[in-house]
Amino acid sequence: MAKQLKIALVGYGKMGKLIEQIALKRGHSIVARIDADSSGADWEQAEKADVAIEFTMPKAAVANIKKCFDLDVPVVVGTTGWYDHMAEIRTLCLSGNKALLTATNFSIGVNLFFHINKILAQAMENLPEYDVEVEEIHHTQKLDAPSGTAITIAEGIMAGLSRKSGWVLRENAKQGTDELVITAKRVDDVPGTHKVTYSSEIDDIEIKHTAHSRSGFAVGAIVAAEWLHGKKGCYTMNDLIGF
Ligand SMILES: NC(=O)c1ccc[n+]([C@@H]2O[C@H](COP(=O)([O-])OP(=O)(O)OC[C@H]3O[C@@H](n4cnc5c(N)ncnc54)[C@H](O)[C@@H]3O)[C@@H](O)[C@H]2O)c1
Repeated sequence: MAKQLKIALVGYGKMGKLIEQIALKRGHSIVARIDADSSGADWEQAEKADVAIEFTMPKAAVANIKKCFDLDVPVVVGTTGWYDHMAEIRTLCLSGNKALLTATNFSIGVNLFFHINKILAQAMENLPEYDVEVEEIHHTQKLDAPSGTAITIAEGIMAGLSRKSGWVLRENAKQGTDELVITAKRVDDVPGTHKVTYSSEIDDIEIKHTAHSRSGFAVGAIVAAEWLHGKKGCYTMNDLIGF
């Protein structure tokens, strides 16, 4: 059984609240709940934590990660849409001997999907009659588009398929380029749906992941916190799952 952890929740929205419920059921305790209107006193509570779990907003994540580094609290980050700063954060993490785990998606099922997606892309390398597209659907409050998960899927495809050199949102796509088109749809209450379609004149091949709720993300983030505790360095879910 995993050690019982003192957890600081950074971001107390839909994900923060769900993580709290599941963490308590797993025997962990919550020592701080930090949200947009929190004060320095709340961050002082976070200093007591074994690990912080950050689910906030793209524009808030970088400052929150740096704050956790300053407090020397390992941090699991679920927020997406801030990865332009990843190189800077990785450098800070490694040079300061801190601990960070990021994932565009914490659900085990999606991480399996990432794995299958990479294998499928490799198999398609020598079948140029197939074109490929990615589609993601999320709830209307999601701020970033495409989703971080869709970007990870696109990167997995491009790693195996040399005829795709970059990705582009459908609304910016131009005819006749080698860019991988991602369609991002926003529909009320959808926790997260991702689909990869290979199309030829003869047939289509689709792989699809549909999240039925946010629970898979929350459980995965807590498992990641349990795994990260006691480690130093920069990790992703790949390090935890071992694909
Ligand atoms: N990686 C994954 O598996 C995964 C899964 C679900 C959601 N997400 C991402 O996690 C993030 C949060 O999702 P959510 O559904 O909980 O959103 P939400 O809007 O319900 O909650 C975000 C919370 O962050 C708070 N916040 C804003 N600025 C803050 C700051 N500076 N410091 C602390 N808190 C701050 C807001 O007040 C709000 O309560 C989003 O970026 C979402 O895309 C990732």
